Amino acid sequence: MAAACCAALAAAGSVLLPNTSAYNQTQASYWSLQESSLSPSCFAQPQTAQQAANLITILTSHQACSTTDFAIKCQTHAPAAGFANIAGGVTIDITGLNSISVSEDHSIAYVGAGNSWLDVYAYLDPYNKSVAGGRNGAVGVGGLTIGGGISYFSPQVGWTCDTVQNFEVVLASGELVNANATSNPDLYRALKGGKNNFGLVTRFDFATVDITRILGGNLVNDIADRAAVFAAFADFTTAPDYDVHASWVLSTIFNATSKAWTLLNVPVYTLPDTRPLVYEQLYAVPNISDNLALTELHVLANQTATPPLNWGMGTATYGVSTAFLNEIFDIVNATIYDFNLPGGVAWSIAFEPLPTVFLAPGAGKNVLGTTPADGNQMIFLTSPFWTDSSADAEVHAKTEEILTKVNAAAEKAGLLRQFEYANYADYSQQPFEGYGQSNLEFLLQTSKQYDPNGMFQKRVPGGFKLPGGQWW
Ligand SMILES: Cc1cc2nc3c(=O)[nH]c(=O)nc-3n(C[C@H](O)[C@H](O)[C@H](O)COP(=O)(O)OP(=O)(O)OC[C@H]3O[C@@H](n4cnc5c(N)ncnc54)[C@H](O)[C@@H]3O)c2cc1C
Ligand SMILES: *[C@@H]1O[C@H](CO)[C@@H](O)[C@H](O)[C@H]1NC(C)=O
Ligand SMILES: *[C@@H]1O[C@H](CO)[C@@H](O)[C@H](O)[C@H]1NC(C)=O
Ligand SMILES: *[C@@H]1O[C@H](CO)[C@@H](O)[C@H](O)[C@H]1NC(C)=O
Ligand SMILES: *[C@@H]1O[C@H](CO)[C@@H](O)[C@H](O)[C@H]1NC(C)=O
Ligand SMILES: *[C@@H]1O[C@H](CO)[C@@H](O)[C@H](O)[C@H]1NC(C)=O
Ligand SMILES: *[C@@H]1O[C@H](CO)[C@@H](O)[C@H](O)[C@H]1NC(C)=O
Ligand SMILES: *[C@@H]1O[C@H](CO)[C@@H](O)[C@H](O)[C@H]1NC(C)=O
Repeated sequence: MAAACCAALAAAGSVLLPNTSAYNQTQASYWSLQESSLSPSCFAQPQTAQQAANLITILTSHQACSTTDFAIKCQTHAPAAGFANIAGGVTIDITGLNSISVSEDHSIAYVGAGNSWLDVYAYLDPYNKSVAGGRNGAVGVGGLTIGGGISYFSPQVGWTCDTVQNFEVVLASGELVNANATSNPDLYRALKGGKNNFGLVTRFDFATVDITRILGGNLVNDIADRAAVFAAFADFTTAPDYDVHASWVLSTIFNATSKAWTLLNVPVYTLPDTRPLVYEQLYAVPNISDNLALTELHVLANQTATPPLNWGMGTATYGVSTAFLNEIFDIVNATIYDFNLPGGVAWSIAFEPLPTVFLAPGAGKNVLGTTPADGNQMIFLTSPFWTDSSADAEVHAKTEEILTKVNAAAEKAGLLRQFEYANYADYSQQPFEGYGQSNLEFLLQTSKQYDPNGMFQKRVPGGFKLPGGQWW
């Protein structure tokens, strides 16, 4: 049946069939082995929004497609199996939706949903403009934006989704519509965090920000000095006058083969300042290496690609204290220290500031449920990577063990928060539950309105679905 559907879809543009080099290449382009191990009956590759709309129309209404489920694939950085690929169904690969342009006054960037952030930054840097997008340039505009989006500019302008002025989106009916503050305002809000539950987004119109050169790079400390780094991070994240140009990803990385921990900071400042005061406490800690330098965003975001690996994710949000950061480190170390696999496994355990200034622009305007009233927080992200695909279940169990133990410690310390960032969540988590009851109800009601047959609930099984979305 899926083969007949693929044949029908060929009427709406390029379709790649198994055992062709183009199909193999697209399948191999997934970031995680878990995703590239799934074989769809075909990849459909729209090159225009209209072609994407025609594809959805055929999937919705053509007899040959009535039992064929599908997935939406952008730049594949959601690692979980089936989030952007589907065994035996149709995978719509939107990376051909890669137009980029800017309004005459350079205040709005019109960005095809299939772009990588790298291409967007390379386009905008010459204008001294940027958008508040992902930090690693290989990540997709599509997936990141509809799940929130953490940018170097987020303390200044909020989540990436908060900067969207207009979504161009294909609804389940196949209709191509705009969603913005005045047209389809419910859909506009639902797409700011609602992931792939409302339609296939073909274009984002982003408000731009000013940029010239920024201070970026890595600063590596000895793990033995972690307490001083954690103290600096806690003070930075809870500063009463948070500097909106400053961000900091603090990662502790464990190699289960060498048993070595690495402490890697990525402190990025969005102005051309070579020694921002805001990092003085961090800089005062003795470092092992430092390549911080003024650079352009499209250079900083152009990171070396990783080899094919299995990847996991898992996340939580916590209140901030130095003591708790130290406690998290000890819990994680005790949980993973003696765990290894043939071929090895490594864990990145990362902390990212979520200060109140970051949450202010979008409070009540997106569906994430995050507001300055939550106080200064930090996002916790655990991501394991390993080569042995037969060990996926074991690594997943360890990920769950880390989250369970650290969440329990957080609860005890009064630091557990309900938000779980969907773009960092493990497939077993329920990030929409953390958006809060009224946002959940709003999402369900908006789904009923724009997708009355629940197509994006039932026939797009990949990614996080709306809890209670079984209303059809
Ligand atoms: C190395 C790395 C770096 C990262 N850096 C950041 C960062 O700096 N900031 C941050 O916030 N997050 C970051 N993330 C997390 C990232 O936001 C998510 O992994 C995101 O889902 C990736 O989007 P994608 O388009 O690349 O992935 P995909 O796997 O292609 O898509 C992810 C999900 O979104 C859906 N989707 C994608 N596009 C559309 C669309 N146009 N319409 C409807 N549904 C769509 C897919 O169906 C899928 O379920 C990072 C992840 C990795 C692995
Ligand atoms: C595509 O990949 C399959 C499975 O790995 C392989 O058998 C086939 O030869 C490849 N075909 C082409 C044309 O590359
Ligand atoms: C961008 O900023 C740099 C540094 O301030 C300046 O030299 C250059 O002329 C600017 N370019 C544009 C297009 O404004
Ligand atoms: C909102 O959508 C309407 C209807 O398509 C469109 O005319 C208008 O230009 C859009 N507004 C923005 C800000 O894009
Ligand atoms: C982990 O350490 C081992 C042994 O030193 C090394 O061979 C391997 O490359 C390291 N793995 C990673 C991911 O750094
Ligand atoms: C890192 O250490 C070196 C050597 O002590 C020092 O010169 C450099 O300024 C430090 N880096 C930062 C960002 O403070
Ligand atoms: C990214 O880096 C690679 C390797 O240095 C280079 O070939 C490529 O042109 C760069 N891409 C962009 C958009 O700058
Ligand atoms: C991690 O745990 C192991 C085993 O208990 C211990 O030997 C080691 O010192 C710990 N590492 C750090 C950096 O605390």
